[in-house]
Amino acid sequence: MTREKQIKNIFPREEDIHSNYRLKETIIQDRYLINGEIRSWKGKMLDVFSPICINNKSQSQQKLIGKYPLMTSTEALEVLNSAVNAYDRGAGEWPMMTVEQRIEHMYTFVAEMKKKRTEVVTLLMWEIGKSLKDSEKEFDRTVKYIIDTIDELKNLDRDSSKFKIEEGIIAQIRRSPLGVVLCMGPYNYPLNETFATLIPALIMGNTIIFKPPRYGVLLHNPLMEAFQKCFPKGVVNTVYGSGKDVITPIMKSGKIDVFAFIGTSKAADAIKSLHPQPHRLRTILGLEAKNPAIILPDADLDLTINETVLGALSYNGQRCTALKMIFVHQNIAESFLKKFNEKIASLSVGMPWSKDVQITPLPEKDKPEYLSNLVEDAKKNGAKVINELGGTINETFFYPAVLYPVNSKMKVYHEEQFGPVIPILSYKDISEPLQYILESNYGQQVSIFGTNTENIAKLIDPLINQLSRVNINSQCQRGPDTFPFNGRKDSAQGTLSVFDALRVFSIRTIVATKENNQNKEIVTEIVKERMSNFLSRDYIF
Ligand code: G3H
Repeated sequence: MTREKQIKNIFPREEDIHSNYRLKETIIQDRYLINGEIRSWKGKMLDVFSPICINNKSQSQQKLIGKYPLMTSTEALEVLNSAVNAYDRGAGEWPMMTVEQRIEHMYTFVAEMKKKRTEVVTLLMWEIGKSLKDSEKEFDRTVKYIIDTIDELKNLDRDSSKFKIEEGIIAQIRRSPLGVVLCMGPYNYPLNETFATLIPALIMGNTIIFKPPRYGVLLHNPLMEAFQKCFPKGVVNTVYGSGKDVITPIMKSGKIDVFAFIGTSKAADAIKSLHPQPHRLRTILGLEAKNPAIILPDADLDLTINETVLGALSYNGQRCTALKMIFVHQNIAESFLKKFNEKIASLSVGMPWSKDVQITPLPEKDKPEYLSNLVEDAKKNGAKVINELGGTINETFFYPAVLYPVNSKMKVYHEEQFGPVIPILSYKDISEPLQYILESNYGQQVSIFGTNTENIAKLIDPLINQLSRVNINSQCQRGPDTFPFNGRKDSAQGTLSVFDALRVFSIRTIVATKENNQNKEIVTEIVKERMSNFLSRDYIF
């Protein structure tokens, strides 16, 4: 079939979908988790339409896959109170528990979560259009993240079980929770990036309110019982609805201690500014990026093409780490563009469950139109769509558009496209891409492609002080999750990794006493009789 026909016929008829991937029923999620109770919801609901359209008599329509609550400020404040009461100013059951006990709860949770793999993976495909392979990867990566977090916490706790004696002071230093954490993840990793903050925040003894992203709500539904069963009441709570209705009152209450958010800086700033005492609010933010690829004249073209296509188009370019601007040296621009286009033409397009699919429909309703506008604006300012059928739209499907030559007058030069539009420009002097990075509002990562060691080395030092990761002959990415993930300028606040997240969601606290006989006896007795969870020599194996 020609590519044109493939795009035209991209959406299946219901009966053509393999029974393994068909949604058995519409998911009416008329419930939410509060105070350890799964409470039923009788109010307004929001329809959830899949990015996947169903072809019916040659007409394609987005499939209605479910509904979820549109809560109001009344329920949002009840959810807040549930988390506040469970924390009980640090005296709640969860924050007072030993680390070992919290770890036991987390092991039970992860075992329950694993039982829901198929359901969650299927919903990831239907709700955000992520390919089967990537949806499975997202689930498995999240499970691994939880296990790695537990292991890292054991290490942290083992180190903290030692006493220190300095300048005549005996002390024990541990990490304590911060309070109530509001976790909001993004639609592109609705499970993984929500849990990347929720899990460390939880295991450190905080209580949680989590709001799933706008696209990617229903896939959390199968995990509600696991949260209810595995943690004391009020420790994990869920909230759904428009940010204005539910997040505004929660933040305005001043009762949120930590705000963990992955999304746009505009939304982050708006939410943060609602807190009446902003100095009390700790924030951890993962925001926009516009990571460039710099292709040096001696780059290995085959490797570079593979990495740049993957970097620009994995999950249709809807990754904060995606390559969103490609600078290719003018001496190799022609051959690069030719091979790049050939590679794009070889990518398979289809439904998330189609074999080896790489390009799938987009979940954001207005995205195809937005991307089309970017393309038109670039065309008006001198670029061409250089790949065949680039930018073709069929409902929610947008076929990747390669734009060349891009310049600073175009919107796509500055804006984070977060989708399958690939701006390319050729440069003569290396100062051109370096200047782009210096002037950019974003500061996450870069990929350099080349074979000359000296030329690569010369770029590392100036780039690493502008960005937070320099990738050599490799696409940009967040993982492995044990590595630090952060950004400069408008790209992030704080660092996330298995190691860092435990620290972000806790504070170092200390019990100290002057080293004299009476104090030594008191401390020894407390430890010997196991009278405190904090002051303790217990060692987690
Ligand atoms: O959307 C941004 C994600 O953090 C990217 O993560 O590099 O693992 O796809 P990834």
